[in-house]
Amino acid sequence: MCGIVGYLGQRNAYPVLIKGLKRLEYRGYDSAGVALITQDGDLQVYKTKGKVSDLEAYADEKDTSGCIGIAHTRWATHGEPNSTNAHPHYSASGNLALIHNGIIENYASLKHQLTEAGVEFKSTTDTEVLVQLIEYIQTSQHLDLLTAVRIALQRVIGAYAIAILDRSNPNQIIAARKSSPLVVGIGDGEFFLGSDASPIIEYTDKVIYLNDGEIAVIRTGHDVEIVDLNNTHLEHEVKTVDLKLGQIEKGGFPHFMLKEIFDQPDCLRDCMRGRINTEANNVVLSAIIDYKERLLNARRIIIVACGTSWHASLIGKQLIENICRIPVEVEYASEFRYSNPVIDSHDVVIAISQSGETADTLAAIHLAKERGAFIYGICNAVGSSIARATDTGSYIHVGPEIGVASTKAFTGQVTVLTMLALALAKAKGSINQADYEQIVGELNSIPDKMQLLLKENDRIRDISRIFTYAHNFLYLGRGYNYPVALEGALKLKEISYIHAEGYPAAEMKHGPIALIDEEMPVVVIATHNALYDKLMSNIQEIKARKGRVIAIVSQGDTRVKALADEFIELPTTLECLEPLLATIPLQMLAYHIAICKGKNVDQPRNLAKSVTVE
Ligand code: G6P
Repeated sequence: MCGIVGYLGQRNAYPVLIKGLKRLEYRGYDSAGVALITQDGDLQVYKTKGKVSDLEAYADEKDTSGCIGIAHTRWATHGEPNSTNAHPHYSASGNLALIHNGIIENYASLKHQLTEAGVEFKSTTDTEVLVQLIEYIQTSQHLDLLTAVRIALQRVIGAYAIAILDRSNPNQIIAARKSSPLVVGIGDGEFFLGSDASPIIEYTDKVIYLNDGEIAVIRTGHDVEIVDLNNTHLEHEVKTVDLKLGQIEKGGFPHFMLKEIFDQPDCLRDCMRGRINTEANNVVLSAIIDYKERLLNARRIIIVACGTSWHASLIGKQLIENICRIPVEVEYASEFRYSNPVIDSHDVVIAISQSGETADTLAAIHLAKERGAFIYGICNAVGSSIARATDTGSYIHVGPEIGVASTKAFTGQVTVLTMLALALAKAKGSINQADYEQIVGELNSIPDKMQLLLKENDRIRDISRIFTYAHNFLYLGRGYNYPVALEGALKLKEISYIHAEGYPAAEMKHGPIALIDEEMPVVVIATHNALYDKLMSNIQEIKARKGRVIAIVSQGDTRVKALADEFIELPTTLECLEPLLATIPLQMLAYHIAICKGKNVDQPRNLAKSVTVE
């Protein structure tokens, strides 16, 4: 949700900033801009509606010299996505330029006060209010920039990660954060800024993750100085990021999404590495060892998450309830945070988030913490805000996910939830050894089975071509595969803009069946499990109304295949692990349908990868 990049050093800043923006474009892509202090000391802002490539075209032939700059790729919150509202925003005098990720909630009242004081605004953004406020405080009270920034931020309500250039201080960037991520990269005599480490790792692996309420003053020839809003100097820890360039590039695939779908077997191997001991058929999660009593004594578990992570949570609930016999509730973080939940120190909250930055999930954690709950995080982004706000947790270790539609993070989350359920059940004694070993062994074989399934890509592409005409899709599943149906529908919606709904199959007759006719494709996950016969009946009900069935079936199935228009076979596995396989063809189906429709799968309209606003 908006990407921020900054550079200060000896290199020409512009190419570093453009490359950084491209790495962050998954965070937003409705407009982009850059501010540079050029060789002759001008503070130049170039910005335009559209993607980073549009910015490059716009800035072509302009003066892009200079060794200091900040840049931004936007996901609009306040103000329509156009060139005027794009960042950076100049202050009234043109001396300051500011970029911002987040929302200034009290911008309207601040703007009113500034307008009364004679400040004129060019854009309709909350961000311009911030830069004007800083300059107004600076000039009216004759303050240095850092003091003006501190005072301005004390008056601001909302979320921000900001970076500011000052024409009169051409060797300095001031950056600050509250509730929106910001990373400072420390190179050899040069500094970088990023919303995450991806624009930085090409140059250095040494970073400082800013905390809420911190301001970083970055100057050539000096160490990074960090102060809080009261000007107290703070110690900071320089961390080493374990991120390789290859992980954030496409590696020969046409899109990040397809690469990430194909990465899944390796990602899950990484996720399980060191946690599943294949010889002893055992799962070891360090968080369970360290907090065993706290977790085992949970009166209940509440899982909070958003989007795809919420779907993974629904699978986790079934796993934990089935084998640990601990009651689990799954909540949308956005609802939970405003629901006055009955929760106390007997409860454990599991927060699941790929980015580790989702504002609603973070707020849900803070609320649960205030009420005494113990917080377990399941995140992908190492060092992210959610990972740091939790009491303990497990990373999913699937590497950076760049495609906006989540794929490998979902299967990584389900894998961690499975390991968590297994480790808890073992510690609690709620699972017998044979079942435990069977699930552990089978989980370990999932990456190989996924690899087999990925060979179906061409077939799924051919099936997708048949259904590109559709305006609506229904996805049905039961039990462990019901959340898979939800996730399949979400993937299709997100990237092809076809309306799709996921339903528990038996609920079809309470409404969705009214939609079924010869135009309506229905994806049914109908594998060989306890509810197979029930699903057969559902398929018959669809066929009786001339609906077109795409069935996900178990290897060797004959009965569903005979009824379905198209089918995709899954390698056999345990019912509780089927989501890890059944999800793959649905990801591929969504991908190919979107490609057939000519859509931009990596950057679908209106969506952002990391939702750092409410
Ligand atoms: C956005 C993304 C989704 C993601 C959701 C939750 O909507 O586009 O792919 O599932 O946020 O994000 P999180 O990072 O918390 O898992």
